[in-house]
Amino acid sequence: MTELEEKIRKREARVAVLGLGYVGLPTAALIAEEGFRVVGLDIKKEIVDRVNSGKIEIREPGLPELVRKVVNRGLLRATTSSYEALSKSNIILVIVQTPLKKDKSPDLGPLIGACEEVTRYISRDTLVIIESTLPPGAMDEVIRPVLESGGLRAGSDFYLAYSPERAIPTRTLEEIKGNPRLIGGINRKSAEAAGEFYRSFVDGELFLEDLKTVEMVKLIENTYRDVNIALANEIARLCEGIGVDAIKAIELANKHPRVHIHRPGAGVGGHCIPKDPYFLIHKASDLDIRLEVIEAARRINETMPLHVVQMVEKALKSVNKRPEECKIAILGVAYKGDTDDVRGTPAETIIKKLMVSRAFVYSHDPFVKQDFGGKFSNNLEEVLDSSDCVVVVTDHSLYKTLDPRDLAKNLDRPCVLVDARRILNPGEVEKQGLTYFGVGYKGA
Ligand SMILES: NC(=O)c1ccc[n+]([C@@H]2O[C@H](COP(=O)([O-])OP(=O)(O)OC[C@H]3O[C@@H](n4cnc5c(N)ncnc54)[C@H](O)[C@@H]3O)[C@@H](O)[C@H]2O)c1
Repeated sequence: MTELEEKIRKREARVAVLGLGYVGLPTAALIAEEGFRVVGLDIKKEIVDRVNSGKIEIREPGLPELVRKVVNRGLLRATTSSYEALSKSNIILVIVQTPLKKDKSPDLGPLIGACEEVTRYISRDTLVIIESTLPPGAMDEVIRPVLESGGLRAGSDFYLAYSPERAIPTRTLEEIKGNPRLIGGINRKSAEAAGEFYRSFVDGELFLEDLKTVEMVKLIENTYRDVNIALANEIARLCEGIGVDAIKAIELANKHPRVHIHRPGAGVGGHCIPKDPYFLIHKASDLDIRLEVIEAARRINETMPLHVVQMVEKALKSVNKRPEECKIAILGVAYKGDTDDVRGTPAETIIKKLMVSRAFVYSHDPFVKQDFGGKFSNNLEEVLDSSDCVVVVTDHSLYKTLDPRDLAKNLDRPCVLVDARRILNPGEVEKQGLTYFGVGYKGA
């Protein structure tokens, strides 16, 4: 057994987690819960202060309680000081954002910045694990050279591994612990050291593979979901034309044992699915390979918010109203139900486009306060009051359980409802005298 493995088994290894965002903070807290001393490093002082005072703003079931517990026990603390986080660490996890640039190519700036900090303090036998999602080849071509620029060699002087996170928001804690985990090592020794570490706090099966395979698998997963959603969206648009309820059709198709079509909707948001396919598209274009299906899927999903806007315009026209004379209530700003994440949310395009048509756009969300240029309130009644059109953009539980009678109480008649998430019952809505339109709904 190596010295590091022994430290891991005895929970004596000191762990640093770089990036205390949607993935980094839950990961740091789960490692601390297992008995390791963890220092979380973030460049944002407000995030560090919130962690240390236990006032967590990320909306994730169980997270605030867990963070408070491990902070109070002295197992987790946060800092903006690289020295404090890194100088005594035996294991360093890098979980910073890996966004796209304006031209949709990967922006590895934050990740390279974080790795440069690691290089300043790395010592022999440290285990460095990158969890941020990477473009193919980035471990060898980008990360390794940065980490070796201090003189130590990856694989011989320190361990280096890539283990991309697969957790889904709203179930992050249970999925970090329970999901099967991919681990790619710069060499076998590195993969095994990382495997030993994950075994200490992950119950899911571990798959130790080569780096390039792991880089590819992570991107295939999210690309599969993007393409599947694009298929659902395309089917939904066709069903609207034909006069078939796409949700019903997809649910019935999914009764086939080998069919699993996702749900259509307002578009795809978040920090993963809209971005990861571009990592493949960009790499493929370097290799002169065209990814036609994947590119088409991106196009379809990126145009869904515009499809919703067109549906709103059509819906208003059907009751002889014009956008510029109307108050439009947007239900949901977050990109996904029951989260507070607005990164890449379809709501942004929908709000901005409706404002271009000079409608009075008033949005509501129970968890975020983001107006995207329109008016915003956390008070649902106020947002609905005297609206000519209601647009359901996010599948928050609050909206799913909304009594159509309450929804319809103070609207301006005639009123239309556009359900981009298909969470309301058309019959129930129409019983209240509203006209129901929805993505993939017949008669739209
Ligand atoms: N959010 C998800 O559900 C999810 C799921 C799977 C994988 N991922 C991947 O995980 C990675 C992180 O995603 P996220 O959603 O947690 O991002 P995030 O933006 O919520 O968090 C990143 C954090 O890193 C901090 N940071 C940036 N540079 C830093 C530096 N040099 N040193 C220390 N901290 C630094 C930022 O201030 C921020 O708080 C991304 O690559 C993403 O693709 C995310």
